[in-house]
Amino acid sequence: MIPHKTIPGRYADEAGKREFVREVFTAGAPHYDRIGRIGFFGTGHFHRKRAVEKAGLKPGMNALDVACGTGAVTRAIVEVLAGKGQVCGVDPTESMLAEARKTLAVPFHVGYAEALPFPNRNFDFLSMGYALRHVADLDRTFAEYHRVLRPEGRLLILEISRPRTRTALVLSRLYFRDLLPTLSWLITGSREARQMMTYYWETIDACVPPPAILAAIGNAGFRDVRHTTELGIFSAYTARRA
Ligand SMILES: C[S@@+](CC[C@H](N)C(=O)[O-])C[C@H]1O[C@@H](n2cnc3c(N)ncnc32)[C@H](O)[C@@H]1O
Repeated sequence: MIPHKTIPGRYADEAGKREFVREVFTAGAPHYDRIGRIGFFGTGHFHRKRAVEKAGLKPGMNALDVACGTGAVTRAIVEVLAGKGQVCGVDPTESMLAEARKTLAVPFHVGYAEALPFPNRNFDFLSMGYALRHVADLDRTFAEYHRVLRPEGRLLILEISRPRTRTALVLSRLYFRDLLPTLSWLITGSREARQMMTYYWETIDACVPPPAILAAIGNAGFRDVRHTTELGIFSAYTARRA
């Protein structure tokens, strides 16, 4: 199952999506953290740290942060592990990883969620922050997560979901579609940063709804599959490897 239909005007077909997404994040990498801080009012780190704790991350675990980007979720994991346990990150975009390496001394690898460069049953905890929309195929991605997690291993996926109520949808469009891309351009002076944030909303708007994501996680062999939302848009999917 694809996470969203082809976005008109961005790439011609599914085959072109991977290269387009890599270009978007290559150009946006130097600006990503700043936009995140200002655009989300400084709440991002608190939100991610609380989410990994609630999903069952504990000191002593071996964790993998998929689509780690500049290391926003990785940093939260490092703090929760507090020197006991291990974490590494994986992401296909070199320039996002280059930003992560500036502040985090953990291993970072180049790779895609759909084909993780790790052995079977290797991790106790696997996270993915705000990147599920970018994978080529949800079933293949969740099968990979199931493969690299140990039995009883915990899964956490953070995502922004299209709001269900009319009012929340109008407000979200006003902020994420009409305001945030321009704000990103103003604070960075970068057209590429604006494009990154325009594409951000386009994919949220087009993404399959939470029940479809929950079903795909369950079909991959996970149990205790749960979905919670905050403010109607910030989704957390959690599950345990059977
Ligand atoms: C919006 S950033 C999220 C970064 C970080 N996880 C966070 O919480 O802010 C999306 C990241 O997904 C990565 N990405 C895109 N396609 C991917 C794929 N197929 N597999 C894994 N990561 C992917 C991009 O390179 C980018 O770094």
